Amino acid sequence: MEISEGGTAKGLFFRRFLAHPTRVGSLFPSSRALSDLIAAHVRRADGEYVIEIGGGTGTVTQAILSSGVPADKLMVVEIDSVMAEFLRKTYPAVTVLEGSVFDIKELLPQPAIGNVGCVVCELPVTLLPLEAQKRLVETIVSLLPRNRPFFVLTHGLGSPIPAKKLGLVGKRTGFTLRNFPPASVWSYARDPEALKEGPTR
Ligand SMILES: C[S@@+](CC[C@H](N)C(=O)[O-])C[C@H]1O[C@@H](n2cnc3c(N)ncnc32)[C@H](O)[C@@H]1O
Repeated sequence: MEISEGGTAKGLFFRRFLAHPTRVGSLFPSSRALSDLIAAHVRRADGEYVIEIGGGTGTVTQAILSSGVPADKLMVVEIDSVMAEFLRKTYPAVTVLEGSVFDIKELLPQPAIGNVGCVVCELPVTLLPLEAQKRLVETIVSLLPRNRPFFVLTHGLGSPIPAKKLGLVGKRTGFTLRNFPPASVWSYARDPEALKEGPTR
């Protein structure tokens, strides 16, 4: 594993993009503005865990922590071993689950099972085939209570997944030009009631 990769987080992100372009899906990490926008969607009851899927080099991780989520209640899933190591070193109090979100049932430690209040997904979901999007949605939905939405970051305006086809309702709940490229946050749920509330902490 190439842990000795030095330099800035941005440099590391770019090198991991070059190594796995479609898996990383973006040349640059999310900007501060976009990270704050995503973090503003996070809500959890006391004791519940937040799961961030695709932590990268941690810009959103930092924003979620800054928004008030305790580090010991944040779990970040990251498939790239170099980025996972970077996250562990930068945020030692956060649990970094190294592996694919599709294996989260095996990765998730006991205290979080059945106790997840919020999931944010930062994978390049538009690049996934429909079958993988379906498995991703099923995985995420299975982690959450029925009345909770989950959130997906996307570069663009349209829904990054075909919500109706996947048995979801969805709406765009955030947009910023202060990211390259401009980006949106979409909220999805099986139950339309779950989308009635705006983003809260
Ligand atoms: C678009 S980047 C987002 C990075 C970071 N969250 C940000 O906003 O700057 C997507 C991240 O998802 C990770 N990833 C891709 N497929 C994954 C999977 N199946 N399971 C977990 N992480 C994955 C990539 O390695 C990459 O770090």
